Amino acid sequence: MAQFLLIILLIFLASQSESAKAHLKLMWKTFNCVTNPDYISEHKCIIVEPEKSAISAELQYIKDLAQFNATFKLFMPRKPSRSFQKVIDVNVDICQFAKGIHGHRFMTIVIKAFGKQGSQLKCPHTKGLYVYPNINIAENLPAFLPETDFKIEMNFLSPAAHVINTTLTGFLFDPIKRKAKTT
Ligand SMILES: *[C@@H]1O[C@H](CO)[C@@H](O)[C@H](O)[C@H]1NC(C)=O
Ligand SMILES: *[C@@H]1O[C@H](CO)[C@@H](O)[C@H](O)[C@H]1NC(C)=O
Repeated sequence: MAQFLLIILLIFLASQSESAKAHLKLMWKTFNCVTNPDYISEHKCIIVEPEKSAISAELQYIKDLAQFNATFKLFMPRKPSRSFQKVIDVNVDICQFAKGIHGHRFMTIVIKAFGKQGSQLKCPHTKGLYVYPNINIAENLPAFLPETDFKIEMNFLSPAAHVINTTLTGFLFDPIKRKAKTT
């Protein structure tokens, strides 16, 4: 799940900006998960303290999923009101995606970079406990991103029903500038 989030975020952000900037850090503010009890009996969605740069998730699936999709929405503040505006909205067939059938060269490279972690996306997705510890997206961020707040809504759905809905908020910041501001 988190790998998928990273892939989409990287693709989006990589397409947004080409100018070289300082290496930004990411801090998560909120991470909420709402699960469908027909599919998931227990879950934990947590931001790893104290740095808040990583998230962890644990999901106990009680049903196999032969087929599942993810919808991914990214929101960023719109100037000047700073209210969130949707900047990306995609619906991806995870089973096809995990097999590398997405026709995007950049995605192929990113999926390769995940190596065996990518196998948690394979289909059919059998029931059981799935653990995604200490997902640190910031470690993998390229150096050319804009400083910004953002919100992500990611829902996973089987053809029959929504399985899990997640909402994440966070921000990207330049640690050097931030230090300068506070001293
Ligand atoms: C997830 O969100 C969808 C669309 O907003 C909603 O229809 C569905 O009931 C939600 N599912 C859960 C498990 O909350
Ligand atoms: C799953 O994603 C594929 C590819 O985007 C789309 O064609 C299909 O309609 C989606 N299915 C559901 C149930 O959302």
